[in-house]
Amino acid sequence: MNTQNYTETPAHKRLLGAATISLALVAGLAHAHGDVTPQAVDTSTLKQLGEEWLGVNPYRDNKEAIRIGDSAYNQNCARCHGLGAVSGGIAPDLRKLDIEPDTDEYFIGRARHGVTRNGAVYMPPFEGTLSQEAMWAIRAWLETVREQ
Ligand code: HEC
Repeated sequence: MNTQNYTETPAHKRLLGAATISLALVAGLAHAHGDVTPQAVDTSTLKQLGEEWLGVNPYRDNKEAIRIGDSAYNQNCARCHGLGAVSGGIAPDLRKLDIEPDTDEYFIGRARHGVTRNGAVYMPPFEGTLSQEAMWAIRAWLETVREQ
């Protein structure tokens, strides 16, 4: 799935018409950057994880994963969650996610499936665009910029 499709879905059009300011802001942001296609992320230098989705980050404190995750985040997540994960207030501040197995599971669920409510896409799914390795690398990097 690329952002082009995302911005052109009927759900997105409904989103534009949505009454709340925050919804309109999210939609506007996606629109303004609609030509930024999610980038494939080269994770060949990391231990490969296989087909099965893990529930706990295997790359915690892994330097190479943190390096890859930094760039993968900026290419795929920053347009909504902010450069350097400093949220502009439109999407949640990902620096505030706890470092716990439960949060790992929550994180990977969001990254894979995105968030759709009542037919409106708040966040697109990344499964099929990003590998499991890339998603966990992003999580490893996010932990290095964590804030209470
Ligand atoms: C098109 C905008 C957009 C993009 C791109 C995006 N997100 Fe999101 N994300 C959101 C919004 C909006 C929410 C809040 C959804 C809701 O209302 O529950 C969210 C929620 C989340 C959450 C849950 C946060 C919490 O505090 O509950 C996680 C984790 C997350 N995103 C990770 C990512 C990652 C990782 C990427 C990049 C691979 C990404 N997002 C890309 C818009 C986006």
